[in-house]
Amino acid sequence: MPLATELDFPELEGRILALTEGETDAVALMATVVCELHHGHPFADWTGFYRVVAPDLLKIGPYQGGHGCLVIPFSRGVCGAAARTGQVLNVPDVEAFPDHIACSSSTRSELVLPVWNGVGRLLGVLDLDSDTPGAFTAEDEAFLVPLLQKVFKDAI
Ligand code: SME
Repeated sequence: MPLATELDFPELEGRILALTEGETDAVALMATVVCELHHGHPFADWTGFYRVVAPDLLKIGPYQGGHGCLVIPFSRGVCGAAARTGQVLNVPDVEAFPDHIACSSSTRSELVLPVWNGVGRLLGVLDLDSDTPGAFTAEDEAFLVPLLQKVFKDAI
């Protein structure tokens, strides 16, 4: 398996920006980002978005990997905590996160990032799950935060 450090971030970013250029539909953007990240990141075993569909409520959006939970309130899990606090959450060991929702028993670590559009509306969260402990790095976070800002700037 390649190391995460072998990931060519500029190449992946260039591909995602080229594929999503001019698109404003949030689900179309999410589907494209998920596909590219899931196949491009060596440690991504489940990759998906949860969308804000009502106050304090997330529902499953585009994803790749096994079946994902359909509904997550802001009060639950890593995804809910990221949506509630607006913070990126990098959880190297999901068993040490008291309220982790185990959609898949093989998940060992995860990275969850809130996603806003350019006018500050919270669209949802991006959830990357890995069967490898401590799979996600500060480098992943530093790559994904500005990329999500660019991709979802004009999303509606
Ligand atoms: N990991 C999430 C739940 C969603 S799935 O694992 C697909 C959480 O605890 O928020």
